Amino acid sequence: MLLSIFLGVFLLILAISLAISYYSFFIGAPYVFTPKKAIREMFELAQIKLGQKLYDLGAGDGRAMIIAKSEFGASTEGFELSPIVYLIGRLNLLFHRAKGAKLYFKNFYNQDLSEANVIFCFLSPHAMERLKPKFEKELKPGTKIISYSFSLHGWQPKEVIEGYPGKMFLYEI
Ligand SMILES: C[S@@+](CC[C@H](N)C(=O)[O-])C[C@H]1O[C@@H](n2cnc3c(N)ncnc32)[C@H](O)[C@@H]1O
Repeated sequence: MLLSIFLGVFLLILAISLAISYYSFFIGAPYVFTPKKAIREMFELAQIKLGQKLYDLGAGDGRAMIIAKSEFGASTEGFELSPIVYLIGRLNLLFHRAKGAKLYFKNFYNQDLSEANVIFCFLSPHAMERLKPKFEKELKPGTKIISYSFSLHGWQPKEVIEGYPGKMFLYEI
């Protein structure tokens, strides 16, 4: 009896997690990570400085947040909607002792971006299209947007890096 209740609760949690993960896949992007070397190169190019605020939209396992915090001294916040990926990200931040890096279980479309100095994302063409008016409305002048693989259609990138499976685009508002 107890075992079947436990199993039922477990299956329910699993089903809810998978449904939310599918939702985040549908509205944003699936979970695929950016190569760490590419992240470092992009952050160097964007000249991320001590104390700057970096937002990772769809933070995945938190790797970009860890690099931004531990190697560039940035203050980082990440937003992740897939529950399983979010848990992996939290564990990864703990494991790397990235103290002060904050990962939220949150839909990034609902996050005010006006505090950011740098936005990092690896999403999808439709997510970039949906983010454009939000960027225009909320980002302050001088904010940098680093996007792995997907450009902001119609916007002129400041820099483009090739040589990785995906191109990298750097924009400045
Ligand atoms: C391609 S992965 C990139 C992960 C990480 N930023 C990296 O570059 O290694 C995109 C992530 O965005 C998450 N995601 C998609 N839509 C989202 C949304 N609206 N809010 C928060 N996270 C979202 C997905 O669950 C997925 O983990």
